[in-house]
Amino acid sequence: MKQKVIVYNKVDPTVIEYLEKTCEVQYFEYNDQLLNNPLFLKALSEAHAILGSRLKVDSSFLDLAPKLKIVSNISVGYDNFDIVEITNRGIMATNTPTVLNDTVADTIFALMLATARRVPEMVQNVRNGKWIKSNIDEEWFGVDIHHKTLGIIGLGGIGSALAKRAHFGFDMNILYHNRSRNEEAERLYNASYCSMEELLQNSDFVCVMVPLSKHTEKLIGRREFSLMKNSGILINASRGKVIDEEALIEAIQQNEILGAGLDVFSQEPVATDNPLLSMDNVVALPHIGSATKETRLKMQLLAAENVVEGLMRGTPKNLINHELILNNR
Ligand code: DGY
Repeated sequence: MKQKVIVYNKVDPTVIEYLEKTCEVQYFEYNDQLLNNPLFLKALSEAHAILGSRLKVDSSFLDLAPKLKIVSNISVGYDNFDIVEITNRGIMATNTPTVLNDTVADTIFALMLATARRVPEMVQNVRNGKWIKSNIDEEWFGVDIHHKTLGIIGLGGIGSALAKRAHFGFDMNILYHNRSRNEEAERLYNASYCSMEELLQNSDFVCVMVPLSKHTEKLIGRREFSLMKNSGILINASRGKVIDEEALIEAIQQNEILGAGLDVFSQEPVATDNPLLSMDNVVALPHIGSATKETRLKMQLLAAENVVEGLMRGTPKNLINHELILNNR
């Protein structure tokens, strides 16, 4: 009997074809009402694996899926997983690291450039017929990125791809703060380890790259904004809740910082009346960090490989809860 897999995100047909070689696959389109769909609930009660992203996998969800062996996220972040509960039930959890590092680093650079050089605002000025003389006035000037200091909070895989671009492409000076030293980044990109306070005080661009957890929620708040330079720009492409959004709004309104480039928000999709959206010095993107055709396909295939490896061989490449293996599941 083939093992049953639920795919609840739209994926490339090749991903379904790959899974169907070894598994029985049922596809459901993700939406907020998925857990009210009796067909989904029936499939869940029989499923051995689920593959997708965003769905909150906590104890009440797991109660509906008694046969589950693996939950496979098509993302590097897994804050939608209650990892303790998943592990206690002996279920494998996987994510898709590495394959998205370069693409997310590109997105971060797009945000840095767009915010520093005020790209969306200038595009609007041109469209609205405000470009009426050949030389532009100082009010439209931006700030440089090259030769400035980039502070990276959380220098893992994506942070390293960012540091590489900053060092080789833009001659930037790199500071970082991390749980542990990243000696490779120090050697390759001349990154300097420092305290959080030093990083905030000395960086022109502060880029937050930590995963969301109870330890990192609202990591950057009033105190942190007050430590940043008034000319500093905050960049967040990790998770919205890592920033205290109210404190960010205040910091921008009170010119405590120069601006922000945000790919993520505490609530997604972001509410259209969120004050950040009406600020010229905030560049907002709809969580597109890894959203290119090529990278999303790689992530989907990796997530599917994790499912097959987990179901067939017991140890998927990107297992998050290694303690399952250590405890000899
Ligand atoms: C992830 O994979 O967690 C990213 O947020 C996707 O852009």
